[in-house]
Amino acid sequence: MVKKSLDEVLDIVDSIPEKMCGRPQPLFLYNLSKKTKGTGEIVEIGTCAGHSAIAMSYAQIEKKGRKINTIDIAEHPELENNLKRAGVSEYVKRIVRRSSVVAATWDKPIELLFIDGDHRYNAIVVDIECWSKFVVEGGIMAFHDYPGYNGLNEAWKAVYDKVMSKPEEWRLISDREAGSIIVFEKIRQEDRVNSHWYNPYVPGTMKLGMFGMKVKYIVRNLLWSFEEFREKRKHR
Ligand SMILES: C[S@@+](CC[C@H](N)C(=O)[O-])C[C@H]1O[C@@H](n2cnc3c(N)ncnc32)[C@H](O)[C@@H]1O
Repeated sequence: MVKKSLDEVLDIVDSIPEKMCGRPQPLFLYNLSKKTKGTGEIVEIGTCAGHSAIAMSYAQIEKKGRKINTIDIAEHPELENNLKRAGVSEYVKRIVRRSSVVAATWDKPIELLFIDGDHRYNAIVVDIECWSKFVVEGGIMAFHDYPGYNGLNEAWKAVYDKVMSKPEEWRLISDREAGSIIVFEKIRQEDRVNSHWYNPYVPGTMKLGMFGMKVKYIVRNLLWSFEEFREKRKHR
């Protein structure tokens, strides 16, 4: 089969119903995948009709990288045809099972983890807890449908509680640049001391920095509860 251009592939993704909130997001995922260095697997939780799987696997085809692993609890009948149309079937390893069940026997390092499965708070927390430990240092963990402070959804809260609250471990590298995808990098051990307001000329600034981050975290959580309370009152 003649290899398709990126534009053609994005057109195919765009033609799949239930669009991924516009063309910039698949393009963004394509770029994330393109930047991988081969230090671990690429794993997606939530395959659905394949928008994101197509974008990420196409980048791997271009760079002769690795197959992406995409996990979904359900079979989506249109998926196979979508992958075929985009010409990426051979670069997509489908796993039809609950993500936490797959994680229980997973043992490979992950360089790019994209979490877009069950969007309820507890489910996202479970996905983060089961999967983030496999992400290599310098690797990426990204989430879809993260609306930010004003959106106040469960993804926001879960990401905030489990990832943003650990600034010593996860560095925010892209905050909804292309819509609702938020991206974190796992900080390398040797860089951890340098994160967050660390000044090498001022001893003790690391501790102050971490303390500051924790205070910021608590304040934002309080603001979040207040906003939620106001929203509820508005809709009473
Ligand atoms: C928002 S859709 C994913 C969209 C997809 N990334 C795309 O670009 O088209 C969420 C998917 O997660 C799947 N899902 C929900 N809970 C899951 C779980 N616990 N484990 C694996 N997949 C799950 C659903 O079946 C659904 O297909």
